[in-house]
Amino acid sequence: MAAPVVDAEYLKEIDKARRDLRALISSKNCAPIMLRLAWHDAGTYDAKSRTGGPNGSIRNEKELNHSSNIGLKIAIDLCEPVKARHPKITYADLYQLAGVVAVEVTGGPTIDFVPGRKDLMDSPEEGRLPDAKQGPSHLREVFYRMGLSDKDIVALSGAHTLGRAHPERSGFEGPWTKDPLKFDNSYFVELLKKKSEELLKLPTDMALVEDPEFRRYVEIYAQDCPTFIIFYMHDDAKFQYGLLISFGMAHDEEAFFADYAASHKKLSELGFTPP
Ligand code: HEM
Repeated sequence: MAAPVVDAEYLKEIDKARRDLRALISSKNCAPIMLRLAWHDAGTYDAKSRTGGPNGSIRNEKELNHSSNIGLKIAIDLCEPVKARHPKITYADLYQLAGVVAVEVTGGPTIDFVPGRKDLMDSPEEGRLPDAKQGPSHLREVFYRMGLSDKDIVALSGAHTLGRAHPERSGFEGPWTKDPLKFDNSYFVELLKKKSEELLKLPTDMALVEDPEFRRYVEIYAQDCPTFIIFYMHDDAKFQYGLLISFGMAHDEEAFFADYAASHKKLSELGFTPP
């Protein structure tokens, strides 16, 4: 299929679809599965053969039946009414837009979205997405194949701040954080705790604290805002005054949000040359 013509009319439809997606995702609390849909459509990219990537092919029954995509039919079906209202928009753009909106409506960073992706029906072979039971070298093999870096691996894994694992889908169970509908840096905070009560840690999550190169980023992203407050009271015969000194970092999530937004944009544009 040819690339869509991104003219003023297309951009207007994108704006309308963005609003529809905001309403849909907020009312159905389906941000986690929408984000996962965007990631699983994009994450099949192979930089060498320039196949896979964010091209809407995940809607193919064959690809949807890959074991890593179990459950994602729910997200595909949720997108259908939006597609019906904005038929000009490609599935490839729609799924990536849904991922960007999912992050925004749950309190995450704003991710720059450039439309114009073409739809393809050719699905890549099964097995391109990461296997949660493996370790650092597997993660590197899969993400380097897409053309992504160590920093991208750690930043993007922070998406597990949203959602949960379902035993009937992946065999794993439970959320990674205490508030799985809030996009924040708590995934990294929990990852560094020795014991997180009842929270999920996949082997690939643990890989991020075990590998020193990955861990560097985890520690930065987990940083809380250390604000020190000193109150000094001066009292002598003539004057009495108090001095309040407070210092800390501007915002605890700044580093994570900035890197996440950049890595998510890269993921959403794998193999795509914006028009
Ligand atoms: C859920 C694995 C990276 C977003 C899951 C689940 C697994 C998994 C096993 C549970 C699925 C279920 O049972 O429903 C992995 C592995 C990754 C990875 C091995 C390698 C680093 C990512 C990335 C993103 C992402 C890069 C997005 C940028 C999500 C979200 C959920 C999820 C939002 C929750 C889905 C829901 O609640 O329905 N992931 N993931 N994951 N993943 Fe990942």
